[in-house]
Amino acid sequence: MQRLIVGLSGSSGVIYGIRLLEVLHGIPDVETHLILSKGAELTLRFETQHGVDEVKSLANVVHNPENLAASVSSGSFQVSGMVVIPCSMKSLAQIALSLNDNLLTRAADVTLKERRKLVLVPRETPLHLGHLRHMTAVTEMGGIILPPVPSFYHAPKTIMDLIDQTVGKVLDQFGIEHHLFRRWGGDDT
Ligand SMILES: Cc1cc2nc3c(=O)[nH]c(=O)nc-3n(C[C@H](O)[C@H](O)[C@H](O)COP(=O)(O)O)c2cc1C
Repeated sequence: MQRLIVGLSGSSGVIYGIRLLEVLHGIPDVETHLILSKGAELTLRFETQHGVDEVKSLANVVHNPENLAASVSSGSFQVSGMVVIPCSMKSLAQIALSLNDNLLTRAADVTLKERRKLVLVPRETPLHLGHLRHMTAVTEMGGIILPPVPSFYHAPKTIMDLIDQTVGKVLDQFGIEHHLFRRWGGDDT
């Protein structure tokens, strides 16, 4: 059984987080702990037809982002790791600087200090030096920066194909099997 913390923060692309939760919902031996920031609730409203309760129903456990006493706030609570998808530049900066004033950033900080896997899917463009430095800092601390950058060799046809490719790359990080995109099999011609 894998226990995974899934943080959805308020950058554009909340659909990536929803899709990850949908896929994990169908995997019985993965237990998801969802932290949905207030910012993510806003983008959910602006960018999708999904309701907050509907998204919450995809997770096994839902945590209040203000509750710093939640289980995932402590390193003694065993989890495989955490993914923040999408990750706003605000949450990225807070994680890079250990500014743990909400549960999402506290859980990410705990993930790093326990040397567990932290995957951030940052969404902003263009990036200024501060954003890049924060990504460097998180990488230096052991985190993985996995921007939602599509590849085209698997011939995507729909927006969902592009989303699934990024979600599949996140699942790859945790060794979770999936069929969300066709893998490159090599070209031996
Ligand atoms: C519709 C919408 C789109 C946004 N897109 C982005 C974005 O792509 N990247 C980003 O860093 N912030 C974006 N923001 C701003 C964040 O929501 C804002 O910085 C918020 O404070 C992030 O807080 P959180 O990380 O705690 O969710 C967007 C806000 C809105 C309302």
